[in-house]
Amino acid sequence: MENLIKGKNILLTGATGGIGKVIAKSLALEGANLILFAGRNQESLLSLKNEILQLGVKCECYPFELTNVDKLDEMLLKVKETFNSIDVLINNAGVAQNTPFDQISVGEFDKIFNLNVKAPYFLTQKVLPDLINNKGTIINVSSVVGHLGYENQNTYTASKHALIGFSSRLQRKYLKRE
Ligand SMILES: NC(=O)c1ccc[n+]([C@@H]2O[C@H](COP(=O)([O-])OP(=O)(O)OC[C@H]3O[C@@H](n4cnc5c(N)ncnc54)[C@H](OP(=O)(O)O)[C@@H]3O)[C@@H](O)[C@H]2O)c1
Repeated sequence: MENLIKGKNILLTGATGGIGKVIAKSLALEGANLILFAGRNQESLLSLKNEILQLGVKCECYPFELTNVDKLDEMLLKVKETFNSIDVLINNAGVAQNTPFDQISVGEFDKIFNLNVKAPYFLTQKVLPDLINNKGTIINVSSVVGHLGYENQNTYTASKHALIGFSSRLQRKYLKRE
């Protein structure tokens, strides 16, 4: 069977987390080049980068606070110094919450929405031209709470619904369903 992943440049957020690490290593094993984009813990990113390089693919990491969307252009320029273009974008970084609805603060709400919605929204906006050129792919990691929701995860639920809503609009537009 043809390997559609080999040689693709894949930009992944949240790469050092539980799910991100599995995604990164699985794709590298299939021959993809990995752009480990954002993350506050530089040491974890460097350690994952070294593990991935041992699999014989290209890999670079770009530590920064992803909710700082004003930094996206600068960091994407750095990516372009090593990778010609991006074939796949995986918006995986996300944060959950377990505070009851009547106790959630504006600060906690903003923290969740800034990482789960605002960051993937604007990162996608900036990477989209490459993806269109390359007939690429976007994968937005939502959650079961993006369809239903859990008690005390009201804000997390709302954020994942928002992520699905924004994904559906893009899908309809760029898969030319309308
Ligand atoms: N775990 C689950 O059971 C589950 C279930 C359904 C859906 N999901 C979704 O799956 C995705 C991954 O979940 P996970 O469990 O693997 O998460 P995780 O283990 O908590 O990892 C989160 C990742 O995101 C990065 N990150 C967090 N805040 C960041 C920030 N402000 N700026 C830049 N990077 C940041 C973390 O790196 P640093 O800490 O170094 O910044 C880490 O790499 C999320 O979108 C989550 O909502 C998870």
